[in-house]
Amino acid sequence: MFHHRDHLEDLNKQLPLKNKLVSAHHSIQEKFPFISRIAITLYDPKTKILKTYIDSSGDDKPLAHYQVPLDDAPSLKEILEKGLPRVVNNLVTFEKGDHEHTQRIGRQGYAASYTMPIFHSGDFIGFLFFNSYRPEVFKENVLNILDIFGHLISLMIVNELSTIKMMNAALKTTSNITHLRDPETGSHLDRMSRYSRLIAATLANKYQLDDVYIEHIFMFSPLHDIGKISIPDNILLKPGPLNETERLVMNTHARKGREIIDDLITNFGLDHMNGIDILKNIAEFHHEAVNGSGYPYAKINHEIPLEARIVAVADVFDALTSRRPYKDAWDNDKAFNTLKQLAGEKLDSDCVKALIENQHQVELIQQQFKESKYS
Ligand code: C2E
Ligand code: SIN
Ligand code: SIN
Ligand code: FE
Ligand code: FE
Repeated sequence: MFHHRDHLEDLNKQLPLKNKLVSAHHSIQEKFPFISRIAITLYDPKTKILKTYIDSSGDDKPLAHYQVPLDDAPSLKEILEKGLPRVVNNLVTFEKGDHEHTQRIGRQGYAASYTMPIFHSGDFIGFLFFNSYRPEVFKENVLNILDIFGHLISLMIVNELSTIKMMNAALKTTSNITHLRDPETGSHLDRMSRYSRLIAATLANKYQLDDVYIEHIFMFSPLHDIGKISIPDNILLKPGPLNETERLVMNTHARKGREIIDDLITNFGLDHMNGIDILKNIAEFHHEAVNGSGYPYAKINHEIPLEARIVAVADVFDALTSRRPYKDAWDNDKAFNTLKQLAGEKLDSDCVKALIENQHQVELIQQQFKESKYS
């Protein structure tokens, strides 16, 4: 009998996905030292956009916070259409490509790449890239082994994403069972989660935010008002202004949301889920105000986690531009003006600025996610 050190033992541990990816990368490099970067992009089927998600490279981030419509990346689209991974053994030809992402990869000096599509039960999830500074390295014997690693990494990603998916499904079911009504329509959530992501991506350089954080904000922001399931219909659906008592009941939705999430975390054993604190903070603190006039705790400025400040702006903007039982929809100019007035008082100025400077993107989101007839 003898003992052997498992080279992938880190994968048994409770580590963030990024660390597991780095660890898998080190194991791969023991065999293939020429593989200098592994990267994953995720696909949003609703907008057909590919987004950088996670990578194992150190400080060089050729594609941080980058997104591209799949239609504008023909060679990636072809991978999907053919259902075959892509081998490029001489990226020099790529360097002159029209597309920003290929140019950025080219400038970083990568000479070869191997790209696998990631699927989960037949659904396309995104792409996995192996990049090398050396040309002509992705030969058959290398690819045979990389395929195994590639599928292992894909499973790690899928596992992470399905946990989040399960969490969202659990929350949606809970809210559907509790009340067969939901004033926050699906399209409200589609829009506000994308505004949140837009704000986070715009602030990424200033606040040093990585893609995983941005993606967590995108995935978790739709759950910000989960606590509203505990608010009785006569208050939640009231067609006019709330009186003082009703207002106090309404305001419990933030604290209540945090409790519901804590409960789900316990029941589903999600304590160690990556980014779970971001979810908790969004639910609990999205109505705090930077000047301390918010609820539930009257926190100020940086006491309020950034993810809650971001979601607050996205939420208020979408509430203003949507019809609610208690108000009509406003046009964008009026809503942007109100945001400007609220900046520095109720809302974080940087977050407001980040949304306003992306008006064109905001309009695209609105065009794509119009109100349904139920709202
Ligand atoms: P919501 O409808 O999702 O609104 C989210 C936030 O958007 C509000 O948080 C508020 O900050 C902002 N907002 C919405 N409408 C307006 C507006 O006309 N003017 C301004 N300046 N800001 C607006 P808030 O106030 O803490 O409200 C939280 C939730 O309480 C609302 O979520 C809504 O469900 C409920 N609510 C608030 N006011 C009323 C009301 O007058 N009547 C009824 N029925 N519900 C209300
Ligand atoms: C790609 O689609 O990923 C690269 C090729 C191109 O720039 O069109
Ligand atoms: C990437 O490596 O992240 C995408 C660039 C490519 O199309 O290979
Ligand atoms: Fe809320
Ligand atoms: Fe909301």
